[in-house]
Amino acid sequence: MRKLAPPPEERPRFEIRRMVAEDLPAVLEIERVAFRHPWSPELLRRELSHDWSTILLAEEQLEGGGRSLLGFVIFWIVHDEVHILNVATDPAQRRRGVAREIMHETLARGRERGCTLATLEVRRSNEAALNLYKELGFRPVGVRPNYYVDEGEDAIVMVMDL
Ligand SMILES: CC(C)(COP(=O)(O)OP(=O)(O)OC[C@H]1O[C@@H](n2cnc3c(N)ncnc32)[C@H](O)[C@@H]1OP(=O)(O)O)[C@@H](O)C(=O)NCCC(=O)NCCS
Repeated sequence: MRKLAPPPEERPRFEIRRMVAEDLPAVLEIERVAFRHPWSPELLRRELSHDWSTILLAEEQLEGGGRSLLGFVIFWIVHDEVHILNVATDPAQRRRGVAREIMHETLARGRERGCTLATLEVRRSNEAALNLYKELGFRPVGVRPNYYVDEGEDAIVMVMDL
């Protein structure tokens, strides 16, 4: 029997793939507009070389051909833990579910690799990210005071059982 296609709401809306060195300029551009203190090219390049680090990109086909980068996530898998370091969506593409989908993919990859826990830190004032993480199932478990030394802002530590 022919396999039925999944209903539209279950189909991935964006294409997700691992970042390669050639993607650096596009990723840096989103990093620059998304954060007050963006990561440097060197830092991102270093992540690409670590075995334990993964950078996933969410892309979309353009009508005239080619692809556009919508957002990305950086995570580490160490032992049984997925640690999310960074997630960002191009400001022009927000509230389309890009971060939700790329985070779902991150958590799925963690589960596939036998992880039992996902962790992250988020600025106390970052309402968009806090909402996103809570919606995904993360729960706040603590505070690291003055974690972001630049502004002396606290970090909320969040965890999720996988
Ligand atoms: C946080 C961020 C990654 C969200 O990206 P996004 O692709 O727009 O998020 P999604 O469309 O997948 O949103 C999923 C859910 O997150 C929550 N959310 C996202 N943006 C929000 C906002 N501005 N205000 C309130 N809740 C928000 C909502 O619950 C949303 O679901 P809904 O749209 O059905 O209400 C994006 O705002 C961003 O890049 N911010 C700057 C970088 C940053 O702060 N990253 C987090 C570092 S810890």
